[in-house]
Amino acid sequence: MAQDARTAPTPARPAWDKAGWRACPRVQMPDYPDPAAVAAVEAQLGRYPPLVFAGEVRRLKAELARVGAGQAFLLQGGDCAESFAEFSADNIRDTFKVLLQMAVVLTWGAQLPVVKLGRMAGQFAKPRSAPTEVVGGQELPSYRGDIINGFDFTPEARIPDPARMLQAYTQAAASLNLLRAFSTGGYADIHRVSSWIAGFAEGPEAERYRGIADRLSDAMAFMQAAGMTAETSHQLGTVEFYTSHEALLLEYEEALARIDSTTGLPVAGSGHMIWIGDRTRQPDGAHVEFCRGVQNPIGLKCGPTLTTDDFKRLLAKLNPGNEPGRLTLIARFGAGNVGDHLPRLIRVVAEEGAEVVWTCDPMHGNTIKSASGYKTRPFDSVLREVREFFAVHAAEGSIPGGVHFEMTGQDVTECTGGVRAVTDEDLSSRYHTACDPRLNASQSLELAFLVAEELRARRRAAPATARAAV
Ligand code: PEP
Ligand code: CO
Repeated sequence: MAQDARTAPTPARPAWDKAGWRACPRVQMPDYPDPAAVAAVEAQLGRYPPLVFAGEVRRLKAELARVGAGQAFLLQGGDCAESFAEFSADNIRDTFKVLLQMAVVLTWGAQLPVVKLGRMAGQFAKPRSAPTEVVGGQELPSYRGDIINGFDFTPEARIPDPARMLQAYTQAAASLNLLRAFSTGGYADIHRVSSWIAGFAEGPEAERYRGIADRLSDAMAFMQAAGMTAETSHQLGTVEFYTSHEALLLEYEEALARIDSTTGLPVAGSGHMIWIGDRTRQPDGAHVEFCRGVQNPIGLKCGPTLTTDDFKRLLAKLNPGNEPGRLTLIARFGAGNVGDHLPRLIRVVAEEGAEVVWTCDPMHGNTIKSASGYKTRPFDSVLREVREFFAVHAAEGSIPGGVHFEMTGQDVTECTGGVRAVTDEDLSSRYHTACDPRLNASQSLELAFLVAEELRARRRAAPATARAAV
């Protein structure tokens, strides 16, 4: 006899344990030479406080649900790899400052609230294209991020050292503390942010953006005159800022996983959102196994090699309850390739009725080797991929939820192009990244202006009934 729908048991989810990933095939993780030392570090981290609180994680998920529904826009950005050497209050402040400016410009463009998510306070572990690298005839294990081994090209530095997890935790905790202070302590006042934007647009090269900056300044002046200031409105003086990183080093992630006392569910305590990289998204692999069991919002990098079959399995595995805001799909196909892959995946999402957030990472598919030998990304390719992403979503009737950038507040020369043009020859002058090339402060803000213009143009082109979803 058919069971009543109300009494039918829900299909059992495979049991999950925070250490369950250890039984799964793993890639891109270090072989530590001293297992006892790893166990000691894990035990220590296991006793430390989590870096984020489960209530914040749930709030981010609710905000991402709004992004998925077209009621908010997502800005995710920060270093490719945070480094111990570059750790300073000024660096954190400057990246935060640029993200705030980008968020205000995008708020204007999207006419929607912008969810601000840093690749910060935990973005330390890196997947690599090869296990070793050769310099001057010497072959050594690849650098895998400061949480794993050292950047220096010496045999000692490249040995994976578990004590680095403790330093990463300390740095993440101090970074998050400063970010929380900046977010609520007066630094993020929208009137100040707007004056920084105006300062950028006053430069002779940025003249093209002065129109938008002037309109923002006018809006601020009006608000101020009408008595809407940080003193009168808490919302104008503070921001919600969240953190994210690739959950690559699972020993670290497991050690910081906690049970949320409110819901009784496991939560990753290492950051608000964690994501799975394009190289570690095997449906039966260790990284998917760990991430499926924690209640945080999960990001999934989607690159050209993602098959339809794997994609379906990942959707089911990572969001079995089809919860809005749980899963953010981070498309990173490369300029010129978006049309070959994204429509296929968008159609799978539609067929499955899957609740997802779509965002565009226009960095990782656009890395090239410059004539001067540096790994770089041309500004124009980055912009082109974002435009292709929006165009495909417009054609498919789906929602382009946000953008994901590797960027810094520093005046580095790592990506070429932009109004304060960085040329191939300039790359050597301030090339500081520990891993992939980042947009500098000027390039990041410029991109925000260009994306904002794109969002405005698409809003204007959309029928009024669809506008809320553009
Ligand atoms: C990254 O985001 O730094 C990264 C390695 O990306 P992907 O997994 O998309 O290659
Ligand atoms: Co990167």
